[in-house]
Amino acid sequence: MPNEKDDILLKVEHLCQYFGPVKAVDDVSFDIKRGEVFGMVGESGCGKTTTGRSIIKLYDITSGSIYFDGKRIAAGAGSYKAAIKKARAEMRTADADGKTRLKAEIAEQKRQMAQALSDHKAAGSVTQIQMIFQDPIASLDPRMTVYETIAEGLRIRGEKNKAVIDEKVYRVLELVGLVREHATRYPHEFSGGQRQRIGVARSVIMEPQMIIADEPVSALDVSIQAQVINLLNDLRHELGLTIMFIAHDLSVVKYFSDRIGVMYFGKMVELTTSDELFAHPLHPYTRSLLSAIPLPDPLYERQRKRIVYDPLVEHDYSTDKPSLREVSAGHFVYCNEAEYQKYCQALGA
Ligand SMILES: Nc1ncnc2c1ncn2[C@@H]1O[C@H](COP(=O)(O)OP(=O)(O)O)[C@@H](O)[C@H]1O
Ligand SMILES: [Mg+2]
Repeated sequence: MPNEKDDILLKVEHLCQYFGPVKAVDDVSFDIKRGEVFGMVGESGCGKTTTGRSIIKLYDITSGSIYFDGKRIAAGAGSYKAAIKKARAEMRTADADGKTRLKAEIAEQKRQMAQALSDHKAAGSVTQIQMIFQDPIASLDPRMTVYETIAEGLRIRGEKNKAVIDEKVYRVLELVGLVREHATRYPHEFSGGQRQRIGVARSVIMEPQMIIADEPVSALDVSIQAQVINLLNDLRHELGLTIMFIAHDLSVVKYFSDRIGVMYFGKMVELTTSDELFAHPLHPYTRSLLSAIPLPDPLYERQRKRIVYDPLVEHDYSTDKPSLREVSAGHFVYCNEAEYQKYCQALGA
């Protein structure tokens, strides 16, 4: 039995990414296990892309830590700065003993902050994690041939041997269902589905352990969506990839994901296995997402009522404050104590 620590490939701890007053991601924690497909869903603007971009280090994150394969690859200074500020404020009214304790506390926070920022910098860019973007048109340079597009990452990494690059480019083209002859063409000559295959090729050529697929099928016709999802699923098995799959609705991630995290307004509100989420959705926002999935059953469709989620109606967080709590083994819900009791009862736990 591998121990649980070896089993976890990505660990996101208290991730915050703020843009001025906008808390795009606000204290989000989750793990992704080696080899699993982790689905992340939530409506537009809830912070999914920001989470992905934080993981591949496109930002100096506001606060929190991200670990990949046991090593801290990203960290922010926010929580340390806040702790130092708090200790300094307490210093003003503290007695002599208190002052000594607070001074030590500040020194320790400073030490940890320096370590965090040094880890962040030392890890550099992490090519072991590659991201596939939502819009294949916007993310492909129209002036570059397919060959140049796919080879770009290798070149940036310092690969100069033409024979090695050729061999790899032609191999991934085949892997994603394109052919050698496509290499000399330009993105505009391809359909949406084929362009997304080019995007996939550009990622897998870097031989990543993990791929973050950010709504990779949202811009595609429904008929093409399944093809791209099947491709990702095949590659996952062939290459032993771990996948974080971002989508704005649950129907796309349902069959593909081992576990699913539901985000709402910068927070992770529910996290559990795909099966458990569909069998026992607990957070009212998850329920509203589920109620939005159409089923091919006319009777059900006629009776289907969309549940609208209004946080002000659903929760009273004035005194009893919410946090992410484990309601049953591996099933986490963002809730307060009263809601926690209610959810436990609902599960018969
Ligand atoms: N670079 C940025 N600067 C300022 N605000 C941003 C930036 N990127 C995202 N945001 C804001 O952060 C929030 C989350 O955005 P995003 O992560 O793109 O959501 P999603 O991918 O779930 O649709 C939104 O309110 C968005 O406007
Ligand atoms: Mg997005």
